[in-house]
Amino acid sequence: MARFSRESRLGFVGAGRVGCSLAAALSTAGYPVAAAASRAFDSARRLARLAPDAVAYRTPQEAADRVDILFVTTPDDAIRQVASDIRWRAGQGVVHCSGVASLDVLAAPVAVGAVPGAFHPLQAVSSAENGVESLPGATFGIEAEGEMRSYLSEAAEAIGANPIFLRAEDKPIYHLTGVLMGNLLTALGAVSAQLWETFGFSRAEGVKALAPMMRQVSVNLDASGVPGAVAGPYVRGDAGTVRKHLDALAERAPQYLPLYCELALAGLPFALERGPIDERRAAEIRKMLEEFREGPPSPNHPQPETNQGEQPKCA
Ligand SMILES: NC(=O)c1ccc[n+]([C@@H]2O[C@H](COP(=O)([O-])OP(=O)(O)OC[C@H]3O[C@@H](n4cnc5c(N)ncnc54)[C@H](OP(=O)(O)O)[C@@H]3O)[C@@H](O)[C@H]2O)c1
Repeated sequence: MARFSRESRLGFVGAGRVGCSLAAALSTAGYPVAAAASRAFDSARRLARLAPDAVAYRTPQEAADRVDILFVTTPDDAIRQVASDIRWRAGQGVVHCSGVASLDVLAAPVAVGAVPGAFHPLQAVSSAENGVESLPGATFGIEAEGEMRSYLSEAAEAIGANPIFLRAEDKPIYHLTGVLMGNLLTALGAVSAQLWETFGFSRAEGVKALAPMMRQVSVNLDASGVPGAVAGPYVRGDAGTVRKHLDALAERAPQYLPLYCELALAGLPFALERGPIDERRAAEIRKMLEEFREGPPSPNHPQPETNQGEQPKCA
């Protein structure tokens, strides 16, 4: 008989955004979420409200003693210590949700016969109360062997997510893609909105104007992929437009020139793949971006040709 199944009782230590969201999602999918603990008892009680069959305990040990699989959903830096402080039973499951940490942070439970796994939602889970809504459709990066691997894969599917399997050595680069798409895209959104203050609007107005565009970018990327979803002046080869951007940035917010230029340079190969920009126009734009990346060039810098006869289009 399988050691881990849909009947296995689950517990959570660390009742924050991911712990609460995952407990709620698994509970809704019919998995028995039986126990919760956290640093603060109130946090454990919050998780227990979101997963109705769960009981909140004051210590991780009390929660661990009552379950077959314990999810350690603390911040990454606390996982090893929290896992080391618990007395595990041989055959008990222990799972963390970090995307970058490997199974080695679970060395202490493994040493006494516990079965490890890592179960990482590739998602920006921003709230304990409402994060559950963001899990269906997300990809879950799984590192585990044997029965734990099958169990976590089925659990991801049960909550409407997409499981993938990762090797320990690939996790930092895998996780970095999530940070680029989540945290650093948010930083790019913040910079873009901040620039609205340079032409008389507030940053909040910038967010309001740009967020629908960000949503549509995601829809386009999902629907058309790369390079199909790549759009804007780079794909068209509008060197004159790019030059205007660079001049405006040099005048109003030169601190963002390196960021803009690096991003545009990184995107040029995909614009070329998509077209109609050709290699000659791309080389001209590349040269401009490389110059401005180092700071605004001298005032007599030659202007690029603009595309003759083309109608201006929106980004
Ligand atoms: N947020 C995301 O978008 C996201 C996405 C994917 C994966 N993850 C991963 O999920 C895990 C949890 O992240 P999170 O964002 O949910 O963090 P979080 O919201 O900060 O929640 C962590 C929870 O752990 C509790 N905690 C901290 N130290 C503890 C300890 N020593 N013992 C027991 N409980 C402790 C916290 O304390 P209190 O009891 O004081 O509340 C808090 O409720 C991390 O491994 C993270 O890498 C996060």
